[in-house]
Amino acid sequence: MTESRFAPRIFSGIKPSGGLTLGNYLGAIKRFVEAQDRGGAETIFCVVDLHAITVWQDPAELRAATREVAAGFLAAGIDPERSILFNQSRVSAHAELGWIFNCVARLGWMNRMTQFKEKAGKNAEAQSLGLYAYPSLMAADILLYHATHVPVGEDQKQHVELTRDIAGKFNHDYGVDFFPLPEPVIEGPAMRVMNLRDGTRKMSKSGESDMERINMTDDAATIAKKFQKARTDAAPLPATVAELEGRPEARNLVEIYAALAGITPQAVLDRHGGAGWGAFKPALAELAVETLSPVSREMARLMADPTEIDRLLARGAERARALAQPILERTFDIVGLVRGG
Ligand code: AMP
Ligand code: TRP
Repeated sequence: MTESRFAPRIFSGIKPSGGLTLGNYLGAIKRFVEAQDRGGAETIFCVVDLHAITVWQDPAELRAATREVAAGFLAAGIDPERSILFNQSRVSAHAELGWIFNCVARLGWMNRMTQFKEKAGKNAEAQSLGLYAYPSLMAADILLYHATHVPVGEDQKQHVELTRDIAGKFNHDYGVDFFPLPEPVIEGPAMRVMNLRDGTRKMSKSGESDMERINMTDDAATIAKKFQKARTDAAPLPATVAELEGRPEARNLVEIYAALAGITPQAVLDRHGGAGWGAFKPALAELAVETLSPVSREMARLMADPTEIDRLLARGAERARALAQPILERTFDIVGLVRGG
C-alpha cells in the first residue's frame, strides 16, 4: 500500500501523570512547536488523560496535571488555532477505536512491549488491564486521525511500531487500505534525556527523587541546585562526541546543553571541551534558566486561570471530534457493526 495518499498529519500526546519535565519539553513539546511552525502538516496534540489512569491517579492531582500539561503546550508556543489541542477523554472515539484495536492486536505483540515490562516489574499480576492494553489505545489515538507522523522520544518508538502493525493487520484482515502506517519521528539531541542522578535511566515524571529531574515549574535556584548536584564522572569534558562513549552522565549534560542551545553536541564540545564540571555546570544551569523561565512564567500565568484552559481544551476537542467521528464511523462500517436506521 502507498502511504502517500494520506495527507501529512502529525499527532502526539503527553500523559498528565505528574508535572512536565525537561525531558518532555526537549524530547517532545519543543519539537511539536517546531513542527507546527514549519507548517505543511496539520498538527494535533493531546493530553492523554485516559493513558494516565492506567496507573493510580488521585482525581484532584489528575485535574491539576491535565491543566499543567495543557499550559505547558500553550506556554511553549502551541497555538490553539493553528494546532488542535485537547484532552483525550473528551473525544470518546479514542476509547471506542481502542476497543476495536484490542480485538486486532495479538497477545504475543503486547507481551513484547518493553515499557509494560519495565513499569510492571516483577509485579505484573497486580497491574491494571489498562496498563497492558495501553499501546493499543495509543494506536487508536494516532489512527483515529489518520496521522502519518508521530513525533516522540526514543522510549515510544516500539509503541509507534506496534501502531503500524495494528494498522497493517486491520487493513489486511478486512481487505481495505484504510489506515496509514504512521512513521515515528525521533530526532535531535534530546530524544532521550536521562535522569540527573543516574545517566542510564530516563528522566521521568514519576522517578522517586525530585533531584533526578528538572520540572518545568522549578524556579531558577532549584534548577541551578539540581544541575550543581547532578552526578558526573571525574574527567573533564572531552573534545569530541566519540569520547563521550561510556560516560552516560557526561553525555546527558552535553546533550541537554545542545538541545537547549539549539546546537549539536559537537558544537557544545567545540566551545567547552577541556572544561571541568565546576565551569560547565553553572554555564548549563544559566542556559537552562534563560531558556525555561519564559516558558515556566507563562505556564504559571495560564494556570492561574483554569477556566480559560478548560475552555480552550473543550474547543480543541470539538475540532478533534469533527475529524475523528467520520473515521470511527467508517471503521465500524468496515468491521460490520450495524449503524444505520
Ligand atoms: P510521557 O510523559 O511519558 O507521556 O511522555 C510524553 C512525551 O515526552 C513522549 O513523546 C516521550 O517520548 C517524551 N519524553 C518523556 N520523557 C522523556 C525523556 N526523558 N527524554 C526524551 N523524551 C521524553
Ligand atoms: N504513550 C505516550 C507516552 O507515554 C503518550 C501517548 C499516548 C502518545 N498516545 C500517544 C504519544 C499517541 C504519541 C502518540 O509518552
